[in-house]
Amino acid sequence: MAIGFYNFQRLHDEEFRKSVMERFEEIVNKNGFVEGEYNDKFENEFASMQKAKHCDLVANGTDALEIALKAYGVGKGDKVAIAAISFYATAECVYNVGAEPIFVDVEPQTGLMCPESLQRIVNKHEDIKAIICVHIYGMPANISALEKICKPKNIKIVEDGAQAAGGFYENGEPIGSSGNLVTYSFYPTKNLGAFGDAGAILCNDDKLSEDIRSIRNHGRSPNGHRLIGRNSRCDHLQAAVLHLKLSNAPTQNENRKNIAAWYFEELRSTAGLELVPEKYIKTSSWHLFPVRLETKEKKYALKEALAEKNIGSSLFYEKAMPEEAPLENVPGEKTHAITFAHKTICLPMHPFLTQEDVKFVADTVKDFLK
Ligand SMILES: Cc1ncc(COP(=O)(O)O)c(C=O)c1O
Repeated sequence: MAIGFYNFQRLHDEEFRKSVMERFEEIVNKNGFVEGEYNDKFENEFASMQKAKHCDLVANGTDALEIALKAYGVGKGDKVAIAAISFYATAECVYNVGAEPIFVDVEPQTGLMCPESLQRIVNKHEDIKAIICVHIYGMPANISALEKICKPKNIKIVEDGAQAAGGFYENGEPIGSSGNLVTYSFYPTKNLGAFGDAGAILCNDDKLSEDIRSIRNHGRSPNGHRLIGRNSRCDHLQAAVLHLKLSNAPTQNENRKNIAAWYFEELRSTAGLELVPEKYIKTSSWHLFPVRLETKEKKYALKEALAEKNIGSSLFYEKAMPEEAPLENVPGEKTHAITFAHKTICLPMHPFLTQEDVKFVADTVKDFLK
């Protein structure tokens, strides 16, 4: 029995490939390669699915973060407080708009931005212009607590939802409906993935959306160039794939929830293993299923034990961002983030896992910890 970390064979089965090829042929016949009707269709449908007023497709999730900061007016010399557990792009985007990051520590059980840490950072650094919280692994950051800290000081919030397509906030509303700028990556391994790079920004504000659309296309407006933008247009081919996948996304996300529930059933009382709080079964998009071991060494040993049984696993993230060499001197708080990164390993999670697969993975984990 081999259990892959992803299952692209099933995701891109014969029927799906046929539909993609039909769309590709249609696009090639029309010579409509960059932006097009599938961009519009995806934007409208994804926005309404996530209860946002606007969805603006861009070239990738990193650009989405940079453009979101730019649209909020974050630039040279500004400070941006970012969650210390994320993919490197969450820090990179701050430098790329000329601003400076400050790390905010995470909650030890989830890796999500810790509101108490943010409060301390905001008290210490008066001049923070924006924060980037991350819906890491698909779990929702505690937006109501973060907004309570940011709103009175007019600190802008970017939600990095790269891993959270189809997830929900704790109030049950879809991620993307908050009114903050919410960014997505549709990198192929994401739970909503293109056949290459793509990304998007959701928002509820007409003016912000107009600016985002202008920035992504060289500052263009109907009356000429109105600002200094860039090229971050989304290919029509990618939009066509994403639009096709969108109709299956709710069922696949429901499967992911059931799979997460099976994992909890099998693993919740395993000595030596910590799971994220069970309340996230309902809200997470379950892009990934993280578990924590007691030590870094045990984590690597478990990875090997899983590999011996042909079970895929992945280390998101081997290091917390503050440990990456170019970010070593960034100020802020990072204690829990470092421990979290060292102990975390992700078990297989994709919509085609069966209950038997989950039991096999869980039994392998339990045998290893005996
Ligand atoms: C949390 C997070 N932010 C940002 C990104 C960057 O997205 P992209 O690779 O599409 O640029 C990713 C992708 O891995 C991510 O997981």
